[in-house]
Amino acid sequence: MMEELQPAFIPYVGANFSLEESVQRAEDFAADLQKRRSVRDFSTQDVPKSIIESLIKAAAAAPSGANRQPYTFCAIASPKIKKKIREAAEKEEFINYNGRMDTQWLDDLKPLGTDWHKPFLETAPWLIVAFRKGYEIESDGKHQNYYVQESVGLACGFLLAAIHQAGLITLTHTPSPMAFLQKILKRPENEKPFLLLPVGYPAKDAQVPNLRKKRLEEVSVWYL
Ligand SMILES: Cc1cc2nc3c(=O)[nH]c(=O)nc-3n(C[C@H](O)[C@H](O)[C@H](O)COP(=O)(O)O)c2cc1C
Repeated sequence: MMEELQPAFIPYVGANFSLEESVQRAEDFAADLQKRRSVRDFSTQDVPKSIIESLIKAAAAAPSGANRQPYTFCAIASPKIKKKIREAAEKEEFINYNGRMDTQWLDDLKPLGTDWHKPFLETAPWLIVAFRKGYEIESDGKHQNYYVQESVGLACGFLLAAIHQAGLITLTHTPSPMAFLQKILKRPENEKPFLLLPVGYPAKDAQVPNLRKKRLEEVSVWYL
């Protein structure tokens, strides 16, 4: 049962920008997000825990089905646990790259230059693992969640935007199957791994694949 607060409704406090400000801010935000890239070369430079806390707060501000916030974000700095995660991820990725992924998948991955080696899982100062909660375990039994996939996806989108705007980098990583994360992190049975996000600073000579993003006309249809 969701906690009932009093009063039940409160005034919405918006930003109240002028039209000119809104135009500029929308354009600036798009331009900034267009600079975001998935980076796979991490520096070992530390990131204070307080920044990671702020990033997770940003993620948890996302909308969710019936405001159930069906996720847990595990933040890992322990070298011992990062090593375990790297070893288990590389085991799965070795199988992925050597037969589990079909030819088309491997062809689509070629421009990214990826393989089964995942050193960044140890190099990055933090790993954030997002778990999706299919349901909640409450004192009186199971309580269902709604639109879990969408809700966790949105929270992770907020998280990625927050990481970028803090000047940090991440990689949306899915070394599937990811059941090993549930085991290593000792998460309960209602939590399933959703994304594995190394977070930190780029290595000095970090490079990213030279990719083209679809133009506005390719991703939108207008009904005026
Ligand atoms: C759901 C999802 C899963 C992904 N899984 C992986 C992954 O396991 N390994 C990897 O190197 N990149 C992974 N990526 C990153 C994509 O390859 C990357 O986002 C894409 O190439 C576009 O590059 P950009 O993020 O720099 O714009 C994943 C991205 C998404 C959204």
